[in-house]
Formats: sequence, structure tokens, C-alpha cells
Amino acid sequence: MKVQCTAVRYKHPARAARDLLRPADFSKYSPVKPVREGIAPYVVETMKAYPEKSRYINQQHYFQNRTNLVNDYAQKQPHPVSLLQLAQYYDDSATLTKQKIINSGRFVKEELAIRIAGKITALQQLPFNVVNNFHFLQVYESYYNIFERFRKFPAIKTMEDNLEFAEFTRKILQDFNSLNLPHLIMGALECTTFDLYPRDKMDELLSELLRSRISRRLIVEEHLSVTSNFLSGKKENTLVLGDIFQECSAREYLLNAARECERFVQGMYFPAIPLPELQIEGATDLKFQFLPTHLKYLLGEILRNAYDATIQEYIRRGLDKPAPITVTIVENADSYIFRVSDRAGGIITGHEDLWSFCKSKERAKESLDNFHRLPGLQTISIYDDMYDTCISPSLKAARPYINTSLAPTGQWNVSKGRYKFEQPIIEMLQRPFRYKLGVGLAMCKVYAEYWNGDLRVHSMPGHGVDAVLTLGNLMKSTVKKQLDRV
Ligand SMILES: Nc1ncnc2c1ncn2[C@@H]1O[C@H](COP(=O)(O)OP(=O)(O)OP(=O)(O)O)[C@@H](O)[C@H]1O
Ligand SMILES: [Mg+2]
Repeated sequence: MKVQCTAVRYKHPARAARDLLRPADFSKYSPVKPVREGIAPYVVETMKAYPEKSRYINQQHYFQNRTNLVNDYAQKQPHPVSLLQLAQYYDDSATLTKQKIINSGRFVKEELAIRIAGKITALQQLPFNVVNNFHFLQVYESYYNIFERFRKFPAIKTMEDNLEFAEFTRKILQDFNSLNLPHLIMGALECTTFDLYPRDKMDELLSELLRSRISRRLIVEEHLSVTSNFLSGKKENTLVLGDIFQECSAREYLLNAARECERFVQGMYFPAIPLPELQIEGATDLKFQFLPTHLKYLLGEILRNAYDATIQEYIRRGLDKPAPITVTIVENADSYIFRVSDRAGGIITGHEDLWSFCKSKERAKESLDNFHRLPGLQTISIYDDMYDTCISPSLKAARPYINTSLAPTGQWNVSKGRYKFEQPIIEMLQRPFRYKLGVGLAMCKVYAEYWNGDLRVHSMPGHGVDAVLTLGNLMKSTVKKQLDRV
């Protein structure tokens, strides 16, 4: 039998090639037409098989992921490191040398790719509806972006290579990656609201992602700090001489946190509102080595709760003046304790979900509404930036945040060694009182436990609350494998 072949002849070969490369449009086979009216544009994006502008989640993603992540990086083990190793880079001396900086860069490049690959794997194990949630998808895309960029970054052989690498990592920290923290929390809240994942498992997942985030950021930030210190002429680097751990005056941090709280209370009510007196007792002169941003965040969130409750109690009961807030500082050999006591009547809501990120469904919805009220946050998407300016989307990503509590303020200058660590949590701390996110205690517990400490809350109904924050003395545990939360 004679078979007739009819080949489509294209007059323009280039157009033919383009047609062949264009992905097939399967939407006509879909039994359900996508609903677009009344749905936020960012949600429509997640209803498609592949997000339109995504660089990674496309037809090739499965195979790419299999080759590079599943069969390669996910097989490698992360290296838990101690704080001392982080500061000295395995040669047991504090002297800063060019070789040490280069070694540090090499370590960071490989370690970050391994650690982020582990987290991508964890996200891939989640039910599709969860990882396909708009916010989690942003995190997934961002993690994949980080994984690919670290993996592909050329080998670091010289100091010049390392400078390029330092600039590259700095941009990653400040770019859309800095949005991952709010996206993680909002993703958890949305999944709780829609009953997509059990609450206890979601809390576990979020704590795990946050702990590994702290470790990764610390590893990167220490490298940036060590590089800029070397460039600015420092010959030595120890944990204390580096920039990450600094001597913190407990009293100063408490007074600053109290001032912030007062500002927020005045902003929420009226400028002349009577303010609670802050009494500091015990080891009032305590100075200790800690991460300034983490300390600021922890004390800030705890005092915020105390101020908020105290003012509400003052108004509710029509008191002459708000009751004082007392902070008792205790210095132990291995730890520091801050007990924040208020007389605001104790905790009214149920105790059991105090430590949950998602609380109840209703609370999750309220928190989500407040997140959405933080201007710019709900609509900014990683896809807005990725194609337009692949290398440095930070400025674009930052634009919707200008004049909001999330406006980035971190500045870094290699030669002057100025860099603000952990900006995202400080930005979260600076939200006005009325925007209750319902995650303060849950977040603080993760951070306190990370630093060998703890956070407990004792409520005496009708009287008040004692929030007891314990922080480990990190200078006593420098050889402990601290960055093992991978
Ligand atoms: N000192 C306190 N006095 C009375 N209630 C408190 C106190 N601290 C916490 N709570 C209660 O515990 C809840 C959870 O606190 P948490 O800090 O986790 O979230 P939030 O304060 O509601 O929101 P966010 O801190 O994110 O703005 C609060 O809503 C409040 O009901
Ligand atoms: Mg709070």
C-alpha cells in the first residue's frame, strides 16, 4: 500500500522552529475553565500547571530535579559546624588570611547548596495543595533559585572570585529571599484556614524550616563578615571579634525595646496616653555576647505582649495609671534569664495553642488578614522580578515596601564592613501593634531554643503573666555543633 505523507511546509523556517518549541496548549482539554473573576491575580498563577514566569517549575523541572537534586545534592550530607569552626575555618587560629577567606567561600558555596537541597526535598514531600499554595510556592521557587545559583556558581580559586561570591550571596540575602519569612508564615496560615494540613505537622514543618534558615543565614553572614573584616584590614577573627556576636548590654536592649513599645502604644491610642513604667531588677549591668538582631527581636516581641496587655487592662478596668512591667535579669554560669512580669490579668485565650504558628482556624484567618494589611506584601510575587532583572531584583522587590514596615533598611558596604544581619525578623518586629500576626511566641520559642535556651509563659489568671526567656551562654558552647539544625 502506498502511504502518503503530507508534510506541512513552512515558508519561514524560523517561525516553524518557534512553533515547534512552543509548549502545547493543554487548556482546551481541561474540563474546567479557569475562573479568573474575583480571584486575586497571584492566586490565578497557582491554578496553572506551571506558573507562567517560573524559571524552574516548567516541563523540564521533573528531570532537572531528578538529575541535579535527587540523584546528586540530596545524597550529600550537610556538615554540622560549631561556632568556633565557623569563626576560624578549621585551622584553630584566629589569624585572618587570604587562604582562609577563600576556604570559607568554598565551604559556604557547597554547604548552602546541600542544605537548601535538603529543604527543597522536604517541601517536595508535602501534599500538592500545600506546596502549591501561593506563599509556599514562592518559597519553593526561591529555594530552587538559591540552589541552582549556588550550585552553578564557578569554583572559588582567588580572592577576586571570593569577592564576586560575597557580592552574590549578599544580593541573595537581600533580594526576594528576604520575603521568604513572611511567605512561610502566611503559607502556614492559609493552609490552616483551608484545612490542608494538620496543625501540629505544620508547626513542626515551620519550626524545622526556621531553624535551618537561621543556620544557613548564619553561615552566609559569617562569611560576609569575615570577608569584609579582612578587606577593612583586620588581621584576626574570633567569634567575638567578628561582627555576628557582639557584646550586648541587657539594660540597653530592654530600654530600646520599651521605647519602641511606647511609640507603638502612643501611635495606636493617643500621644499623651499614660505609659507603664519599666522596672529592671537583678543583674541590671549584665553584658553578654549574643546576636544583636536575635536579642532585639526576642526582647521586642515579649515586651510587646506585656505592653499591649497592660494598656488594654488599664483601659478595660479604668485604672488611674497602667501597672508597671518588671524585668528580672539573672546571670547563671551557662545561661541568662529574663523574666518579664506584667500585671495585666493573665492570658484570656486557651493556653494550648499559644505556641502554635497557626492557632485556631479563626485566629489564622485574623492573622492572615493582618498580614495582608501590611502594605505590598500580599501581591508581591517572586515572578514579578525573576524575568525582568534576574541578577538583582532587590530594588524591584523592595519598591512596594517603601514607606511600610517592611521597607528594607539593611546596607552593606564591603570595604567599610557594614552589614545588618537578619533584617527580615527586625522588619516583622516593627509592625504597628494593631497588626497582630499571632506568631510572636511561636517564633520566639524557635529562636530561643536555637540558642540553647527556652521560652516559657506562666499565666496567673486575674493577676498577670510571667514570660521567662532563657538564652544559652554561647561563649561556653563554642565547640558544640551548634549549626546542626540543617
Ligand atoms: N503578657 C500577656 N498578657 C496577656 N496575654 C498575653 C500575654 N502574652 C501573650 N498573651 C496572649 O497570647 C497570645 C499569643 O501571643 P503571641 O505573641 O504569640 O501573638 P500575638 O501577640 O497575638 O500576635 P503578634 O505577637 O504576632 O502580634 C496573645 O494574643 C495574647 O492573647
Ligand atoms: Mg505578640
